[in-house]
Amino acid sequence: MDVHTTDDTVTRRMKAMADRVSKMKAHDFYFYNQPVTEILDGMKVRVNGRVMGMYASYSYLGLVGHPRINEAAKKAIDKYGTGTNGVRTLAGTLTIHDELEETIANFKHAEAAVTYSSGYATNLTVVSTLMGRGDYVFSDKLNHASIVDGCLMSGAEFRRFRHNDMVHLENLLKNAPPDVAKMVIADSVFSMDGDIIDLPKMVDLCKKYNAWLMIDEAHSVGVLGEKGTGIEEHFNLYGAIDIKMGTLSKTIPSVGGYIAANKELVAYLRHASRAYIFSAALPPAQAAAANEAFKVILDEPWRIERLNQNTKQFIGGLKGMGFDTMLTETAIVPVLCGEDETAFALTSEAQHNDVFVLPVVTPAVPEGQARLRATVTAAHEPSEIERAMDVIGEAGKKLGIIK
Ligand SMILES: Cc1ncc(COP(=O)(O)O)c(C=O)c1O
Repeated sequence: MDVHTTDDTVTRRMKAMADRVSKMKAHDFYFYNQPVTEILDGMKVRVNGRVMGMYASYSYLGLVGHPRINEAAKKAIDKYGTGTNGVRTLAGTLTIHDELEETIANFKHAEAAVTYSSGYATNLTVVSTLMGRGDYVFSDKLNHASIVDGCLMSGAEFRRFRHNDMVHLENLLKNAPPDVAKMVIADSVFSMDGDIIDLPKMVDLCKKYNAWLMIDEAHSVGVLGEKGTGIEEHFNLYGAIDIKMGTLSKTIPSVGGYIAANKELVAYLRHASRAYIFSAALPPAQAAAANEAFKVILDEPWRIERLNQNTKQFIGGLKGMGFDTMLTETAIVPVLCGEDETAFALTSEAQHNDVFVLPVVTPAVPEGQARLRATVTAAHEPSEIERAMDVIGEAGKKLGIIK
């Protein structure tokens, strides 16, 4: 067999990564890619033979395994099988895709919607389809990697504004040529910090400077608004966002991504965005599961109430013990540790005590801001949250993060 032996930059990059992983493993600090062998009732998982409370889930409303959603997926398999006949534009579109897109459009108070095979692919393809050379795209510094990659791929002038800083955004908008196409783009709820974008101010700025507004609702659907429909409901600003992006892999327990917008924009994306034209349609079971999940959210509003209570309990309890949870107002709760090593050590203590949390370290967050990124969901019992906080609190004291 031919073995690749060239000592080039690719080989050196791979070696650097392998060395970092080996060092982490040697210190018992490697927590990534651990297989879950069983999902138990509520928010519990079996990992390495141990049952742990899950505090790293995006299933904010606890919908993974919901009977109605499972049933919809099974029926879709019986009806259509497990795959499609190709890409949407050609032979891949099924009636379940059209149904799902109608459901999303209604849920998001939009005229139309289009789906893609992942949230990552959605951001990549949509930003790079709408924006091009000579245009200007303005992106929050803490936006998700898929947005950053979409902006870079577009070839547009890429301007990053300080996190949630509308004065900085306005300065950047002011300095762009008046007659070019502009897009402002941000996460609704930030995936590492849990805080919410200042949508009202952003909407005003987009109007003033004639810019398109695109918001990534990966972490706000099922989380913000009394009905869980997202950031427009939260601020009572229905119709304010031009391009509402979301994923089908977090609160919605499936896989895929979508854009909800006006009919013209959605029709354009169906004929111009490469991830729609050149990549396979969503599998029927996943489309049907997602379709049912949006309906379950509206039918079971108690889940949002539960999530809000649990979020309050978790943030309040951790803050009460002296942890810095940064600016979070949502179910994503950063527990600031400082150095990477401290975040690894806190994770290790938590996991050894059956609390499944994960660390976020450099380069995903700035130096000195390593953290646990804990999440709470509607499926946690208050007593379980209490126990998880006790474990994190004890470990925090042992490591000197709190007194
Ligand atoms: C803000 C944000 N946007 C997009 C994505 C990508 O979504 P998906 O996992 O569906 O590809 C994520 C996933 O972590 C995210 O947090």
